[in-house]
Amino acid sequence: MKHKVSKVLLLSVVLIGSLSFINSKKVKMSAGGSTVDSKREAKIDSLIKLMTLEEKVTMIHASSSFTSGGVPRLGIPEIVMSDGPHGVRKEHGRDWEADLAGTDSATCLPTGVSIAATWNPELGYAAGKVLGEEANARGKDIILGPGVNILRTPLNGRNFEYMSEDPYLASRMVVGFIKGVQDQGISACVKHYLANNQEVNRDKIDVQMSERALREIYLPAFAAAVQEGGANSVMGAYNKFRGQFCTHNEYLVNKILKGELGFKGVLISDWGAVHNTLEAVQNGCDLEMGSEFTTSSANKPNYDKFFMGDTLIKLVKSGAIEESLLNDKVRRLLRLMLKTNVMTKDKRKKGSINTPAHQAIALQVAEESITLLKNENVLPLKKQNIKTIAVIGANADRKHCGAGGSSQVNSKYEITALKGIQKLVGNSITIKYAPGYLIKKGKTADQELINAALEATKGADAVIYVGGWIHGYSDAWNDNAYDSEGLDKPDMQLPFGQNELIDALLKAHPNMVVVLEGGGPVDMTSFVERTKAIVQAWYPGIEGGNALAKIVFGEISPSGKLPMTFPKKLEDVPANKLGEYPGDGKTVNYKDDIWVGYRYYDTKKVEPLFPFGHGLSYTSFEYSDLKVQKNGQTVTVKLFVKNTGKMAGAEVVQVYVKDEKAAVERPEKELKGFSKLFLKAGEKKEVSLTLNPDAFKYYDEGKKQWVLEPGKFTIITGSSSKDLKLKADVEL
Ligand code: GLC
Repeated sequence: MKHKVSKVLLLSVVLIGSLSFINSKKVKMSAGGSTVDSKREAKIDSLIKLMTLEEKVTMIHASSSFTSGGVPRLGIPEIVMSDGPHGVRKEHGRDWEADLAGTDSATCLPTGVSIAATWNPELGYAAGKVLGEEANARGKDIILGPGVNILRTPLNGRNFEYMSEDPYLASRMVVGFIKGVQDQGISACVKHYLANNQEVNRDKIDVQMSERALREIYLPAFAAAVQEGGANSVMGAYNKFRGQFCTHNEYLVNKILKGELGFKGVLISDWGAVHNTLEAVQNGCDLEMGSEFTTSSANKPNYDKFFMGDTLIKLVKSGAIEESLLNDKVRRLLRLMLKTNVMTKDKRKKGSINTPAHQAIALQVAEESITLLKNENVLPLKKQNIKTIAVIGANADRKHCGAGGSSQVNSKYEITALKGIQKLVGNSITIKYAPGYLIKKGKTADQELINAALEATKGADAVIYVGGWIHGYSDAWNDNAYDSEGLDKPDMQLPFGQNELIDALLKAHPNMVVVLEGGGPVDMTSFVERTKAIVQAWYPGIEGGNALAKIVFGEISPSGKLPMTFPKKLEDVPANKLGEYPGDGKTVNYKDDIWVGYRYYDTKKVEPLFPFGHGLSYTSFEYSDLKVQKNGQTVTVKLFVKNTGKMAGAEVVQVYVKDEKAAVERPEKELKGFSKLFLKAGEKKEVSLTLNPDAFKYYDEGKKQWVLEPGKFTIITGSSSKDLKLKADVEL
């Protein structure tokens, strides 16, 4: 008995003890999470109490092209911002005058779509860390990136800046990237919230979509960025959503972002995205940027004329608007400033820029992103068998970093494909180069240039073609084209007569390697069957040419995987076929709904050219011993992967879930887990992934919640969404 009593006593002591511990924690937690938080909130309270109405209004709109207003009287400085998602942008003074003093170079990372093509979240963190260190070194408080809008149509001009057609891949990659940036002590700004999936009429198009499409496709990456990545700021998109501008949208900002998701940071408008004072104040816009172009003359900006400027002061003084609405905005700005030492910059980490370490990360991202789409025993090229190489294509000698719109970077240098190949082969091999086409508006096939290219290939032991899309005809902002901000592509066709050139070259050199640069798929109908080796290089950044050369000559095996489907032709794309892209100028109805990318192609049995998650290697992998173990509604997936080839390589094991029977139509499969394995020749490793209950749910519009419908699910492992390996059923 004694023993029992003491046991009961002991247990109750432990229980009370833990309860009191929790309570004490709760006491602290209720004060905003921790003592640090509560101290910060107290400091914010005291500052707000001291501020005049005018000072509060000064803080919630721009004071120059890339700064928000400060309150010198109270020691509150301006917040300094800069683009963009893959490098610190050219230095714009306070008035958009790019400072060409040369002090504004930076490391141009491979773009968002490249980072996603690595399928390596740790590398995403490393890339974010580079961006954060360089932004910090350049004196920025907020870097305006990453971009995570879903790749709904290949025609979107800014796909290159974003990540994926799949919300899970985009979510996993964006979380690491944001943490990488913010661990350097500055803020990321995840953008563009939300459904900015086209550039056509981006500043006014009203996006209409179902609640299920919102919840299952377009919102998840932003939710992950805020809830897991801890993004300190979010940028409101230009477009409308269900009739209201995104940047001051009651449902998106107040109800979802700040309500459901509990976002405590700053909602910054896109530049010029605010259109209404009352809506901006009431619907959650915390900082108005870029309205100088709509409220005053571009070259003599008057920041007080902003929607949340003098007009707002008058409305508060007249009693039309409660001053307390401004306090929350100021609170969020001060919270970001205190979290990132904006007022105590001497306490901030130093940052660094243009370092070999940064360039090494850029190289690694490029190496892991370049995707081998097709290879019939052509690659890797063997240097020892080659005396002369012909490199053909104007893209081979083109630098991309400086263009594309606001994500432009004055890169410290940029290794083009041609440069990279020249550097790798050295003097041992003769390289002959010809552009083959002219990058000029409206240019079509030029027979003279084609003939010159054919001439250059005469006697070559290997021919490498480098073509694809470009960011524009020059670095000039208004010279944008194809993969650029502000406009979409006209179609998926390769421009400048490249198809005719490739055709002529293939006739003479059937083993030619085709390398494509760009932010997504092009129509390859005219050459894909006849081409034995096709490499997707994306926009590989400052070290891109070196990475490409290492892969082409087999120093490393490619390991990139497509973060979006490559369809056979534009007519197959659901957004273009079902989804009314680009809309009627006023509205675009996302009738493609949740049927984006492989969700559509696999379910509706439309054969893609190259499927989501596809990417070849120079080695081979064997999957074995799949074990699926459920514990309640959580499922553990374990399997082994062996490198059965002769070369080290990396495999991205993808885990898809199929709901065998549901009350609603569900996709054939959905990506719910992945793991990138680096394996030496012959090496075998175990993969272990946990699928939590969310992995099996769909969004029920009637119940307005996520539901997990009991029944049979199939867990599918694969090397792409079509190259399926082992499967197992589980009953939940
Ligand atoms: C642009 C872009 C946004 C960028 C901002 C500042 O219009 O949409 O991505 O960060 O303005 O340049």
